[in-house]
Amino acid sequence: MATAGESVVIETMGPADLAEATAVVNRAFGHRPVPRPLPSDKRLKRERRLDPIHRTMLGRLPGQTLVARKEGRIVGVMRVVEWPRCQVSPRQGLAMLPALIGVVRWDWLRWLICRYVWWRHDPRRPHLHIDPLTVDTELQGRGIGSQLLRRFCELADGTSLPGYLETDTPDNVRLYQRFGFEVTGKATIMGRTDWFMWRPAGGQKPSTNTG
Ligand SMILES: CC(C)(COP(=O)(O)OP(=O)(O)OC[C@H]1O[C@@H](n2cnc3c(N)ncnc32)[C@H](O)[C@@H]1OP(=O)(O)O)[C@@H](O)C(=O)NCCC(=O)NCCS
Repeated sequence: MATAGESVVIETMGPADLAEATAVVNRAFGHRPVPRPLPSDKRLKRERRLDPIHRTMLGRLPGQTLVARKEGRIVGVMRVVEWPRCQVSPRQGLAMLPALIGVVRWDWLRWLICRYVWWRHDPRRPHLHIDPLTVDTELQGRGIGSQLLRRFCELADGTSLPGYLETDTPDNVRLYQRFGFEVTGKATIMGRTDWFMWRPAGGQKPSTNTG
């Protein structure tokens, strides 16, 4: 169970933070969705290839990105986008194509299919969408993701909007459930399950033991 753990300051990402925030996202996703751990050289290569995609998401697509800082260093990143601009549109997808082509073969194909399936499942009604939420690898499990999610709940409750997200591990599902998200659907995409989760407007408050 996560505890209060690391003490972080949460603030809006500024232009000067883009590279550092992108690197956190790259590291958090650098070993996924491959089925087994990658050796460090392959992982670094994969992180470099993911960089333009994540940089575009955080720097050019709509939404507000919040960063969690520990002693000045960015250790967590959460992008929040209001419907209907929350899914990558075909035009934005095309703009990202050069970056995607640089990504390892099946990764870019999976990314495209995944985005299409997510777009199909996206609730066609107002909501605040989390995409992505990440914590730097060596600091995961210390309550930082929970602190970012608590901030998300404040944002959502402040606007009386429901929340929505896609996720791909049972551990993540359990984390989001603690913040009032419920599973509303799932899809298997190239052998991996993605869950779709909805948090009703003014959803239940996080339980006190989530950090
Ligand atoms: C998912 C993630 C943002 C959670 O942030 P966190 O700071 O690690 O989470 P917290 O410490 O606040 O909460 C811990 C809970 O998160 C869940 N969790 C998911 N991935 C985890 C991980 N790699 N390490 C630890 N907990 C994880 C578990 O439910 C855990 O609860 P438990 O201790 O009872 O098992 C972070 O682990 C991460 O960046 N993972 C990789 C990228 C990712 O999957 N992002 C989410 C995409 S939807």
